[in-house]
Amino acid sequence: MNSIKLEQIAKMYDTSIERGDEVILQGHFHVGYWDETNPNASFAEAAERFTQIMIDKVDIQAGERFCDLGCGIGVPSMQLAQAKGCFIDGITISQSQQKRAQQLAAEAGLSDQTHFIVGNALEMPCEDASYHGGWFFESIYHMDHRKALQEASRILKPGATLLIAEFSTRPTTTEEFIAVSKEYFHCFFINEEDYPELLDTVGFDLIEIDDVTEFVMTPLIPKLKSDSEYIQPIKSDNKSDSRNNLRNMSENLKYIIVTAQKR
Ligand SMILES: C[S@@+](CC[C@H](N)C(=O)[O-])C[C@H]1O[C@@H](n2cnc3c(N)ncnc32)[C@H](O)[C@@H]1O
Repeated sequence: MNSIKLEQIAKMYDTSIERGDEVILQGHFHVGYWDETNPNASFAEAAERFTQIMIDKVDIQAGERFCDLGCGIGVPSMQLAQAKGCFIDGITISQSQQKRAQQLAAEAGLSDQTHFIVGNALEMPCEDASYHGGWFFESIYHMDHRKALQEASRILKPGATLLIAEFSTRPTTTEEFIAVSKEYFHCFFINEEDYPELLDTVGFDLIEIDDVTEFVMTPLIPKLKSDSEYIQPIKSDNKSDSRNNLRNMSENLKYIIVTAQKR
């Protein structure tokens, strides 16, 4: 694997905040979910729907502690905190995202329930078995999967649920796409078939892998309006490049939600 350069990932997300992507995406730095119940939803509405689908899979009680590993500007954390009444620690590698997350939490009156820090999710500043649940919500593909899951295993309590929402490769994924994703977007995609062994060796039982490609990747291109491009162009600011990137993603990647339980 190419080496993962944390500074470059931080810079990519800092730049995204400076560029104002947050306004377009209304705070959701992940893809949307469209099915027969919301075919006309905007990108932001569908992204919020996706967060709700993740929240519905979270098994946590009010007052318990949850970790959001790669939290963006904290919007999914805040939605979860409001839905479940749990306490959330979110970590992002981007200082601009962390500042914005704290600001948004204060505005929403959620500063007591959410706490956002800048740092590396592979080195969580906490004791072993600190959390009752956690997720990597479209973030683990920026990390070494094995190390990230090892650290999640360390910080979760036995019986805790871990959710992972991420892109995964198809049998037809091209080498060129993989290379461009690594070089320009710092994305390291794996295959869903890698998950059972990865999870098992670091102390998780795999509960399920939910393939949601048809609700996430298939509608991506038709749904994306020219003013809501959320992936910056490769090598150029040309808009057609952005659409090509999205087309490449939708052709080359599946999308899965993995549910696992810490042994
Ligand atoms: C596509 S965004 C998803 C953000 C958020 N989970 C959401 O759904 O809106 C990826 C996130 O992963 C974070 N990230 C990437 N590598 C990281 C690392 N090693 N440690 C902590 N955060 C990381 C980025 O800072 C960014 O916040």
